[in-house]
Amino acid sequence: MGQCPGCKSWNSFVEEEVSVSSAKGSGKGSGGISAGRRELPKPMKLSEIERKTEERYDTSFPELSRVLGGGIVPGSLVLVGGDPGIGKSTLLLQMAIKLADDGRDVLYISGEESLRQISLRADRIGRTDGSLRFLSETSIDVIIPLIEQEKPQICIIDSIQTMMADDVQSAPGSVTQVKECAQRFMVTAKTLNVAMFLVGHVTKEGTVAGPRVLEHIVDTVLYFESGDMGAYRVLRSAKNRFGSTNEIGVFEMGSEGLREVPNPSEIMLAGRPENQSGAVVTCLIEGTRPVLLEVQGLLAETSFNLARRQTSGMDYNRLSLLLAVLEKRGGLQTAKFDAYVNIAGGMKVTEPALDLSVLAAIISSYKNVPVPSDTIVFGEVGLSGEVRAVPQVNERLKEASKLGFKHIIMPRLNMAKADKFEDLEIMGIRYIRELFDLI
Ligand code: TYD
Ligand code: MG
Repeated sequence: MGQCPGCKSWNSFVEEEVSVSSAKGSGKGSGGISAGRRELPKPMKLSEIERKTEERYDTSFPELSRVLGGGIVPGSLVLVGGDPGIGKSTLLLQMAIKLADDGRDVLYISGEESLRQISLRADRIGRTDGSLRFLSETSIDVIIPLIEQEKPQICIIDSIQTMMADDVQSAPGSVTQVKECAQRFMVTAKTLNVAMFLVGHVTKEGTVAGPRVLEHIVDTVLYFESGDMGAYRVLRSAKNRFGSTNEIGVFEMGSEGLREVPNPSEIMLAGRPENQSGAVVTCLIEGTRPVLLEVQGLLAETSFNLARRQTSGMDYNRLSLLLAVLEKRGGLQTAKFDAYVNIAGGMKVTEPALDLSVLAAIISSYKNVPVPSDTIVFGEVGLSGEVRAVPQVNERLKEASKLGFKHIIMPRLNMAKADKFEDLEIMGIRYIRELFDLI
């Protein structure tokens, strides 16, 4: 076809042959079909299944280990996705060096860079005397036998889009090729008990296959992203068969590779204005960890019939909803005002506990009364203007206390189960009307 009936672009069709002889059935448990009679496997009770408490390899990168769910599981397949240039190769090379220093056997296979380029990069981030070996290769018909021969504990493939299986006709980076290669690496990882890392570039839709097509094949999916955070990078787990998802690790890219940022709250709050109206600090839970963020709200009288609403870092519709609740239950005529909300630091927030801080920032801006800068506000707001309880309150309070905050405005429903902190004054509220009066 010349023109795509879907997107109307010309000459965008690429032929992809589907090879029938591919690794199908090479997985374990294909079962013996003897002539006529099939021997069936026996389903087992949980108590009958032999369980090894898997040793995990520690990465010596606490941020990375936490995102992985507590270290690298032998025999697992991990996909590390991200935009080109974000630092995936750097992160994995640093990890490989640290693992080799710990006496692990690591093989780093790059299809993108020559050995010289890798060596130059290693010069910047530090070398190792451990058994870390490199190979520049793209054919998986060479790589897999090599892995079988070398039997490393950890193997890194950079990147899956450059890998090529000889018996698959389509070009490297195409959906068929990428899926087929990932499938075979999966079998290799499971049969040889090698922990494998695949790098996958997130690409503009269409031309090359991105990590999305692999998410269901692999055990763990990590995304490395920067948002608008400059040198800061966030490693996020989107799927993890061996740990919790939505865990984040924060890194900073410097001239000597990536450096961990163990306390993101400090950077998120750096440079925030003191005692200005419209700025409120909130405490949210990212994965298992509390993070403090500054929420900025601005209410300005509108000059048109239709008020503007604009958000950055939070959901636009959520802001519209909160403003409607404020109008109906808080008695503030929000329809007359343009409203802007910004989450400072470039984080994208979806947790409902953000609600109360957004309203606090908006009310503070409306009244032109600053919320004292040693105050933390969090809580979910419902349509009747009620402030609902949020989970993990004690973690939030602990983080607030650790960073020297003094006052907390939070749901009254959470008060009963909250620990006592000597240095924190806690105000529990039930309806947003109370928040309005309090500010
Ligand atoms: P890289 O790991 O090659 O990205 P990816 O593999 O995700 O495509 O990272 C490349 C970027 O990182 C490049 O723009 C240079 C920068 N960088 C530093 O700033 N400092 C360093 O020490 C290194 C190694 C890279
Ligand atoms: Mg790279």
